[in-house]
Formats: sequence, structure tokens, C-alpha cells
Amino acid sequence: STQTIFSFFQPPFLFIFLYLLTQLSPTDQGIWTVNSIGRLGNQMGEYATLYALAKMNRRQAYILPEMHQQLAPLFRITLPVLSSNMVQNIPWKDYELHDWMSEEYRHIEGKYVRLTGYPCSWTFYHHLRQEILQEFSFHNHVKEEANQYLAGLRGQRRNVTYVGVHIRSGDYIWVMPQVWKGVVADKAYLEKAMGYFRAKYQEPVFVVTSNGMDWCRENIDASRGDVYFSGEGKESSPGRDFALLAHCNHTIMTIGTFGIWAGYLAGGETVYLANYTLPDSPFLKIFKPEAAFLPEWIGINADLSPLQSETSG
Ligand SMILES: *[C@@H]1O[C@H](CO)[C@@H](O)[C@H](O)[C@H]1NC(C)=O
Ligand SMILES: *[C@@H]1O[C@H](CO)[C@@H](O)[C@H](O)[C@H]1NC(C)=O
Ligand SMILES: *[C@@H]1O[C@H](CO)[C@@H](O)[C@H](O)[C@H]1NC(C)=O
Repeated sequence: STQTIFSFFQPPFLFIFLYLLTQLSPTDQGIWTVNSIGRLGNQMGEYATLYALAKMNRRQAYILPEMHQQLAPLFRITLPVLSSNMVQNIPWKDYELHDWMSEEYRHIEGKYVRLTGYPCSWTFYHHLRQEILQEFSFHNHVKEEANQYLAGLRGQRRNVTYVGVHIRSGDYIWVMPQVWKGVVADKAYLEKAMGYFRAKYQEPVFVVTSNGMDWCRENIDASRGDVYFSGEGKESSPGRDFALLAHCNHTIMTIGTFGIWAGYLAGGETVYLANYTLPDSPFLKIFKPEAAFLPEWIGINADLSPLQSETSG
């Protein structure tokens, strides 16, 4: 057997071996990455899109150190991280993405590609759903904290169903009408969305997370005792809120990628705010609702009357 081992290091095996090595080495597979911009939901969209597109194009994906810093404390992500030195010295070719999958993205040329934009669409990665969910599986201590919190809300209920409610507030309250001819969620939307779950499930518990908790307390009727306002609403530490939503059984989202990802990870029913811009909104040039919301998710139309009265008056 020493002879077999020895002959392995002779031609032609040696050449085959070296050839295979070059095929597997990262430099030959290229180095692909994606920009690390925006907050948690955006970063997740960028990560998942890179993961899927690199795989489709048979390239090796790496993430930037900034992305690692945002995602690794929460998730057991596996993509290797570039050093800042490498980031600076690689001759990147930037490739701008719009927010839905296109045929041309299956054939992106280049060994050193940096994807840019804010991609967050299931159309890029839903065929890899199990892998994406694996990438975004939480660390044990995060999981335990979320489950413990939810268990604490159960009270005397025997057959509880948790519904995570995410309300995107803050800058969007003025950005939507002024920049995008759109609205954010209103009181009636939340009442309808919660009504859907109250009608369908025996003992629902609504876990509300938001970056604008005052607005939530004013606009959500908590008089039935099934609504819990959670979290400090701190934008700087969104991980805990996100973990809570993802551990709920179902999701009510308003707008934003944070809620989209919460629904995707929770994996139950997701209710979303639909048609929240005027038909001539410039938002619809960069955002395709059908690429953002899974077909089985449940849309409830937004009330656009505040915009209409504004333009006619
Ligand atoms: C628990 O509630 C669900 C709906 O919320 C219902 O389908 C199921 O039958 C209930 N289970 C029990 C044991 O009551
Ligand atoms: C609902 O969520 C809780 C908390 O994550 C979980 O323990 C439970 O198994 C879920 N129920 C269903 C029916 O999936
Ligand atoms: C949103 O508007 C479109 C076009 O008018 C319509 O086809 C769609 O059903 C609406 N969505 C919902 C959830 O009603």
C-alpha cells in the first residue's frame, strides 16, 4: 500500500490532483461579495441574495466585515468574511441589482464581483429556502431568551397562538407620503389584521414590536388583554425584537424588510399592508409587491384617503 500512496504522487494522478485543487481554490471560484448597507432587514436581504446569486453563478461568496458584525451576533451564518485588507486590494466590479430576480442574474460575468443595491426579494432565494433558514438560524441564547419571553406572556391560556406584530415607524411616517406618495399602516389596518387572527385562532396573543412605541400605544386597541407591547423600541438593538417576531407562530407586518424577514422566518401566516402607494408612485419603479410578498401571504389594502385629500385639497 506504500506503493499505491507513492504512485498517487506520480503523474498522471499528481496532475489530476493539482487540477482539482485549482478548481476548488477560492481564487479560481472568484470572490463575490455584496454591499453592507441599511439596517438588519436590508442586511439579511443582501446576504441571502449574495448567497443565492453566487451559487447560481458558481462563485464563492464572502461577506464584508461590516455585514458580519451586524448578522453574526444573532445568526449562525456560514459565509466566510473578507479582511478589510482584501476588500481594499481586490479589483471589484460593481454590479447593481434591482429588487427582483432577472434572467441575466444567472450569467453575471466576473471573478471579483461586488453586488450593490438593497435586494430583498424571495424571487432570488426562495428555491434555497431551507439553506437560507439555516443561515438565519439563531444562536441558542437568542432562541432561549425569545422563547422564555413568549412563554411569560401565555398566562392562563391553554392553547396560545403567538402573532408577532411589527410596526415600522420613525422616518417612514413622513418619507412615505412626501417622497413616495404612500402611507404607513393605520389604525384600521391593524384592527383588520388582528381581527383576522382573532377569528381564526382560539387564544391569540399579539406581541407588538416597533421603533415608535408611542404611536403603537395610541393606535392599537389593547383593551381585550391580548396585546403586549414589547421591547424598548430601540433601533440600535433590533436583534431582540427580531428574534421575538421570528419565534411567533404568525406575523402582522406593516412595511419594511424587517417585517418581511420576520414573516419569512416565522413561517406561519403573514398579513401585510398592500397597495400602500398611489398608482403613479415612483416607489413602484424600484419595488415590485409581487416580488416582495410571498403569494400565500395575505394582503390588506391600505387606506390611501389621506393622500387623496392632500392632493385634491
Ligand atoms: C387549539 O387552537 C386551534 C386554533 O387556534 C384549534 O385548531 C385546535 O383545535 C385547538 N386545540 C385544542 C386542544 O383545543
Ligand atoms: C407557536 O410558537 C411557539 C413559540 O415559538 C411554539 O412553541 C409552538 O410550538 C408554536 N405552535 C405551533 C402550532 O406551531
Ligand atoms: C392591490 O391593487 C391591485 C390593483 O388594483 C389589485 O389587483 C390587488 O388585489 C390589490 N391587493 C389587495 C390585497 O387587495
